[in-house]
Amino acid sequence: MSIVKQYPKISPEEAVSHIFHGATVAFSGFTNAGAAKLIPKAIAEQAHRLHEKSKPYKIRVLTGASSGASIDEPLAMESAISYRSPYQSGPKLRSQINSQEVEYVDMHLSHMSQTVMGGFQGKIDFAVIEATEISPDGRVYLTSSIGASPAYLKYADRVIIEVNHHHSKRLREMADILVMPPPPHRFPVPFHHPLTKIGCPYAVVDPAKVIGIVENDAPDQVPKFTPGDERSEKIAEHVVRFLLDEMLAGRIPKEFLPLQAGVGNVANSVMAALARNPYIPPFQMFTEVFQNSLLTLMEEGRLTGASTTSLTLTPDMLDRMYNNMDFFAPKIVLRPQELSNHPGVIRRLGVISINTALEFDIYGNVNSSHVFGTDIMNGIGGSGEFTRNAYISIFMAPSIAKGGKISAVVPMCPHIDNNEHSVQIVVTDQGLADLRGLGPKQRAEKIIETCAHPAYREYLWKYLESSRTGHIRHNLEKSFELHVNLMENGMMLPDLDLEKVAAA
Ligand code: COA
Repeated sequence: MSIVKQYPKISPEEAVSHIFHGATVAFSGFTNAGAAKLIPKAIAEQAHRLHEKSKPYKIRVLTGASSGASIDEPLAMESAISYRSPYQSGPKLRSQINSQEVEYVDMHLSHMSQTVMGGFQGKIDFAVIEATEISPDGRVYLTSSIGASPAYLKYADRVIIEVNHHHSKRLREMADILVMPPPPHRFPVPFHHPLTKIGCPYAVVDPAKVIGIVENDAPDQVPKFTPGDERSEKIAEHVVRFLLDEMLAGRIPKEFLPLQAGVGNVANSVMAALARNPYIPPFQMFTEVFQNSLLTLMEEGRLTGASTTSLTLTPDMLDRMYNNMDFFAPKIVLRPQELSNHPGVIRRLGVISINTALEFDIYGNVNSSHVFGTDIMNGIGGSGEFTRNAYISIFMAPSIAKGGKISAVVPMCPHIDNNEHSVQIVVTDQGLADLRGLGPKQRAEKIIETCAHPAYREYLWKYLESSRTGHIRHNLEKSFELHVNLMENGMMLPDLDLEKVAAA
């Protein structure tokens, strides 16, 4: 590795002058946490100027995961993205993907580093990475997320560092970074506990590749979650009761098992309900996103440790953490997504995964990502790697959406992210179905009776009765009738009295 003693300080505009039309740019950021901030904005401005002159300007965008307000949305607003991977959640970008203006590769997040190494995303022309510091010999101290940045620093041709002074330099005390070598040189990842560390507090870059440093002082743009509603509270109640029953049955040990929870309001309600329950012991998390609710749980002593790849905290909560690093730093490990979501470790630790579905079918197949099987919502994210390898895998969804126009329980999912072989528990505000050990007929009966909203049960029973008998019963003429109704009439069951549904 060559040694560069001093990196030039450059303006965002100067940095962006290097980034040409068609370039593949890999940004730091897993959610808005740790996302590059000034350069995406400057790229958007550059796109605006060029588009005004009718000149083409689009880039191919990689990140750790979604990074809506920081990267995806400003770029999408200027139609500056041609290709996106591995996850997004911004409304503008979503609509461009669904109109096929943007090519989107929706991936298991732990695969990103290997995919980049294999060259499947094309050559990485630039990595734009937020850091608290870069040393003359190329040690890059990352900020509030690690994500795929270590791999991007390694494989990119050229690198721009956004040094953000808003972040605590003590984040490096949480970081545990390594980039896995290719097979056959891989080794077992020796985590026997969520807080095991095996790597370095920094990522590494060849200093010769660094174009310069852009200085910054802006906080992460993590939005506030809206508080959970009545249906989320009901789901949380069912999940907590189920986990307590599992402890009583001896299938969860008295010291509990590490939890993974997806992001969102339902997940927040579940975490809060778990923490409130005096019979659930203090627990740990092996997860990919550390969000607001977890910070409070840690302060209260309910959450004793967490492995994650991002601190997805609103600016007030992140500052609260930075003001108390003596307390938080020993209790949190920040890893690359290749390790935070590592299938072998998830299996070894006996993680209990809790994720959210858009819909699931009467056999337990889950769709979290594609409305009607065609329109992307966000993506599979980490849900697949956690669900497939969890000791107990749970999927939750409100039993109805859009005031009852949509049922979360359907005869067949038109897109499947997690299938019946991996999904063990499904739960709605109506109830929880434990599918372990049940055959397809038993699953269907249990899901319809326990999870479906009462307004949709009769339809689902009739569907089952009208289906062709086989190991799995289906009526292929009617499998997607609810979805077709929704597309054509705006309601899965056009004759449903929505006032009655809301009251049920
Ligand atoms: N069909 C169509 N739309 C549906 C629907 C269905 N079956 N179910 C819900 N929706 C709509 C809702 O009405 C809502 O629309 P609105 O924004 O216009 O109100 C929207 O989808 C989101 O639903 P919401 O109940 O607010 O869910 P959420 O914010 O908890 O997100 C997922 C749910 C599934 C979209 C989200 O969890 C996700 O993207 N998951 C996949 C990735 C993942 O699991 N990541 C974590 C792994 S670690």
